[in-house]
Amino acid sequence: MPSLIHKVADSVLKRIRRSSLYYGRYNNTLDFATNRTYTRYTKECRAAYVAKDGIMDLPPSPLCKNGAMLVKGALPTAKAIACTAKITELIEKKDPRIEQSKKDSLSLHLSDTLLTLGADILDVLRNPEVHQNLLAYFRSHYRIYWVTGYRSLPTTAAVKGSWLWHSDSFPPHTCKMFLHLTKATGDTGATDFMNLEDTMMYRRAGYFGQFQKERYAELQDFAKDHNLPYRPFHLDAAPGDVTICDVNFFHRAVTPRAAFRDIVSFFFVPNPIHWEEQLKLDGIENISKRAAILPKDPHPGVAIATKGEARMM
Ligand SMILES: [Fe+2]
Repeated sequence: MPSLIHKVADSVLKRIRRSSLYYGRYNNTLDFATNRTYTRYTKECRAAYVAKDGIMDLPPSPLCKNGAMLVKGALPTAKAIACTAKITELIEKKDPRIEQSKKDSLSLHLSDTLLTLGADILDVLRNPEVHQNLLAYFRSHYRIYWVTGYRSLPTTAAVKGSWLWHSDSFPPHTCKMFLHLTKATGDTGATDFMNLEDTMMYRRAGYFGQFQKERYAELQDFAKDHNLPYRPFHLDAAPGDVTICDVNFFHRAVTPRAAFRDIVSFFFVPNPIHWEEQLKLDGIENISKRAAILPKDPHPGVAIATKGEARMM
């Protein structure tokens, strides 16, 4: 009997979290307690910013409606190319810091990314345009929570997982940033995105793309059947450019067909103090080695969730 009660409760919760009201408010299907924790914490960080730095004189971030934006030349091209050469060297040497992805055979993961590629890749956040855009998105300071690196391998094979249309379930007021070390275009694997308006339209029509079994590789037929516009966009990037994105909007990674694609991915949460001050407290080595696991509570100093507690869907 308890299992029946749990099943009914799970089904009710799933319906609530997939309602327009819940998605409209949080843009994810995380539990209410996690969403409330992040919402309250964001307010604290924004108040801390105003108290110390005054009212923020920046327009609203385009990320809030578009889901993704590009900043060109965020890191010197030569530095980005040197990082790619380093990854190639590690692969050729069969260095243990290079691991095959557990999810698919289409990507190789780099461990200890920040220290392996050099902490000077953090210069990307010292680029004024990048910093200003992150401030405008968070409306507060922000903290680097994790940094991961990976190489997507060229293929023409059928795809699954992140290569299908989906939205992730990250907490509200968090975002990711992809530092491109190689060119990312239609041929070399630029991520396809949908804006907020389209993401919500597809959800209202019944497409969620949350779990593997409900994800589609293509949405043109679904769009036709439900009389929806199909207008995904991608941002062509050169080595050293960054894409800042909210992955709770629909997106799909596009497999590179012509050449491999290298990316360093940053995950940010709001913070009451400047990221560099926070980094001194966190320690570069700790950030470099931190697994890509979502913190249930983003306050600095709170114990980090273990792998079993990860909520990455
Ligand atoms: Fe994703």
